Amino acid sequence: MKGIILAGGSGTRLSPSTDSINKHLLAVFDKPMIYYPLSVLMLGGIRDILIISTPEDKPRFEALLGDGSAYGINLTHMEQAEPNGIPEAFILGEDFIGDDDVALILGDNIFYGQGFTTLFRRALENHRYATVFGYRVKDPERFGVVEFDHRQKAVSLEEKPADPKSDFAVTGLYIFDSRVVNIAKQLTPSERGELEITDLNNQYLKRDQLDVQLLGRGFAWMDAGTHESLFEAAEFVKITQQRQGFKLACLEEISYYMGYISQHALFKKGKTMEKTDYGRYLIEIAKRKHTEQYWEEIDRNPMLGMVENE
Ligand code: DAU
Repeated sequence: MKGIILAGGSGTRLSPSTDSINKHLLAVFDKPMIYYPLSVLMLGGIRDILIISTPEDKPRFEALLGDGSAYGINLTHMEQAEPNGIPEAFILGEDFIGDDDVALILGDNIFYGQGFTTLFRRALENHRYATVFGYRVKDPERFGVVEFDHRQKAVSLEEKPADPKSDFAVTGLYIFDSRVVNIAKQLTPSERGELEITDLNNQYLKRDQLDVQLLGRGFAWMDAGTHESLFEAAEFVKITQQRQGFKLACLEEISYYMGYISQHALFKKGKTMEKTDYGRYLIEIAKRKHTEQYWEEIDRNPMLGMVENE
């Protein structure tokens, strides 16, 4: 399974904040927005990930995340010359996808909730053709909307309908088989001049090959694409973190728990940003098994840490 994060676009809805910087590099409370979708793919166990951004911003994403080795994953960076629409990710990513299945997540989407990782992993495992995730919202007209029949089977999909047929938005997380590349190539631009993800999903729906998984009320899903929603997302992250003492989308913590990086590497990364709450959090996790003195000793004499450095 491959992963793609789409982090390009024009960001005009967040102007002037995004006039000189990519939206997905803005902070959602204490970390860049892109950490949130990246954490979702990592929690799903996906390690080969393509980040698509703009020609101007690609170097910035490279500077922030590098080749992923710091997190035990493989990141490839690519540019989308113009925001021609979400399905273009599959056309640009053709070689990267190859014959594999692929999960796409939009760079401004934030998912959180008990059991989300299990649900996503199960969806990745059981997925056959196309899987999308539905979520009840108060303002469906802002999103792709899915309509169900009385057996909860998806019967229609519409992009930002003026008169939505249901309250279920299609979130920005999609899993497809490798045929998605050819299906994306056959799409034509909509009235607003973009290839539409809803048209792509409709191709699978038409073939009766679209699985819609519902995220219940125990989950939080947000897109941080407007000033209002960005602020709300930041507030949500702040309150949740403060209340529980866990961080959301802490990439180093996830790679440590996934077994991709050692406890020592976690400690060292924490030390580089010890002045921040984020850095102290990493140190805290690393210290759960060993004391700070232990790690400092290992830093002085790495031979001692052979076991921990695996
Ligand atoms: O957030 C979920 C919604 O995302 C879905 O319900 C809709 O069906 C889907 O069309 C999309 O709607 P948005 O109006 O939020 O799309 P937006 O143009 O804001 O782009 C979403 C993200 O993808 C954003 O982070 C920018 C990025 N993007 C978008 C386009 C069109 C790109 O990187 N390149 C693009 O060409």
